[in-house]
Amino acid sequence: MERFDKVFFIAGIGFFAFAYILMGIGPWTTLRGLKPPDGVGSYTDIESRGRNIYIREGCWHCHTQFVRPVRNESERYGALSEPGEYMYDIPQLFGTRRTGPDLSRVGGKYDDNWHYLHILNPRSVVRDSVMPPYPWLYDKEGKPTKEGVALVAYLQRLGKWARKEAVKPAEGQPTAGVAPALTKELLGRGKGLYEANCVLCHGERGDGKGLASQVTPPPADFTDQEWKYGGKLEEIFHLISNGVPGTMMPPWKQLPETDRWALVYYVKAFSE
Ligand code: HEC
Ligand code: HEC
Repeated sequence: MERFDKVFFIAGIGFFAFAYILMGIGPWTTLRGLKPPDGVGSYTDIESRGRNIYIREGCWHCHTQFVRPVRNESERYGALSEPGEYMYDIPQLFGTRRTGPDLSRVGGKYDDNWHYLHILNPRSVVRDSVMPPYPWLYDKEGKPTKEGVALVAYLQRLGKWARKEAVKPAEGQPTAGVAPALTKELLGRGKGLYEANCVLCHGERGDGKGLASQVTPPPADFTDQEWKYGGKLEEIFHLISNGVPGTMMPPWKQLPETDRWALVYYVKAFSE
């Protein structure tokens, strides 16, 4: 044994030095001088209180905050994550499991009211949601407590800086492709999608009287032939894809294009 002592000693020091260079000096040289991307600043008071509630409630068990550089991830969530955007995150909340979607770009995707309804009862706005409700963040009248308000302020901050695409309602410049021909199947598909995603606000009959219709502005009534954002097929497509910022109408870009066209035909059919 004696004669191996030196070998173990040198190998021990060697591995320690190797690990130190690889995991200490390596990252230090690449991350030195790192700057946060434009628009990322330290947390405001309310945001950091919200962040603590996010941690306390264990939201990170089901939600990641990291848009990975693999296929389609940036299409679904937005700009890829950059090292600098985590500068103010102590501890970081990358998360490990995605029972729910990644949240690092959720800021500005929905209106505050959407979040309040969603956190109080996720199934009131997303029919088949498996996210648990958090009623203790609300008072007896169903108004969010200070904690609830802070949590939503925190969610609205996430990745807002990375929202480069102007999420504006169609203004005569629809980005849509060409509408596919209307078929029975497409309309049937639209019905299924509508029932799964839209009835809670727009109502089964398309009259804007769903369960979650008590909001301002109210969900659109599709039966009246009036289209606030234009009634052309491409205009409706554009609106469904991007939602209306500042209202309860969320964007539906994550649905495949054919599905969005199916929805366009289906909502149009309410007034025909
Ligand atoms: C048991 C897992 C689970 C937990 C815990 C959880 N969520 Fe979720 N969350 C989900 C699932 C699944 C969805 C997708 C369905 C939906 O939108 O409700 C989701 C959706 C969301 C969305 C919408 C994301 C998007 O892009 O549409 C937000 C925002 C959100 N959760 C916030 C939170 C917050 C805040 C907490 C903690 C208070 C939390 N979640 C806790 C599972 C979870
Ligand atoms: C959480 C509630 C909510 C959900 C879910 C929702 N919407 Fe909306 N939607 C709204 C609100 C609110 C408006 C009105 C916005 C405004 O008036 O500025 C709206 C407006 C619209 C409009 C614009 C109508 C017009 O007058 O130009 C279309 C089209 C539309 N929604 C389609 C859909 C489709 C399709 C779905 C399902 C995939 C859906 N919405 C899901 C709340 C919702």
